[in-house]
Amino acid sequence: MNDKVKILGIAGSLRSASYNRAALVAAQGLLEDGVTLELFDLEGLPLFNQDKEGQPEPRVVEFKKQIRDADAILFSTPEYNYSMPGVLKNAIDCASRPYGDSAWRGKPVAVMGASIGNFGSARAQLHLRQCFVYLDMLPVNHPEVTIAHAGQAFDGEDRLVDDTSKALIRELLDNLVRWTRQMRK
Ligand SMILES: Cc1cc2nc3c(=O)[nH]c(=O)nc-3n(C[C@H](O)[C@H](O)[C@H](O)COP(=O)(O)O)c2cc1C
Repeated sequence: MNDKVKILGIAGSLRSASYNRAALVAAQGLLEDGVTLELFDLEGLPLFNQDKEGQPEPRVVEFKKQIRDADAILFSTPEYNYSMPGVLKNAIDCASRPYGDSAWRGKPVAVMGASIGNFGSARAQLHLRQCFVYLDMLPVNHPEVTIAHAGQAFDGEDRLVDDTSKALIRELLDNLVRWTRQMRK
């Protein structure tokens, strides 16, 4: 049986120096053998318009293909106003339509996040998890990876330097990989 696991990483931020993208880059350095983590940049996805869902733009088609090609999804979300950023919710909506053709269905998924505040995007992560119910995704629940005070957790070159966060990301990846292999059986 194929034991390799291909993870697609999605940061919920378009910011060039995004801590959440940097967290996914850090995760790329923490993978075990046989596991890959590619990133999809949400830049260029159109705003979802249900009138046009039957004729998706090429960027949406590409996004859905990359989701389908992946064995599992890893989101890293900022927190905007106690919730996930609109850019991430829009991406989720784009890839969930048309009805009956969602790319998310049945995908193992894990969540982490970074914010400059005290709670490391915990409230945004909770809202994101709520979407998994309707999307019929299969979430890993532990550990919670909430990178608080991101300005200190990352260095001046956007490298994650907080050892606790690194250990939690490694554990989350291990759990996601184990869960993905279990679901494959
Ligand atoms: C519109 C907006 C709302 C924000 N709301 C919150 C918030 O509710 N909680 C929080 O901890 N940080 C909040 N922040 C600060 C973010 O944590 C910070 O901008 C973070 O760097 C965003 O993630 P990124 O670096 O991946 O872009 C907000 C930032 C913006 C732009």
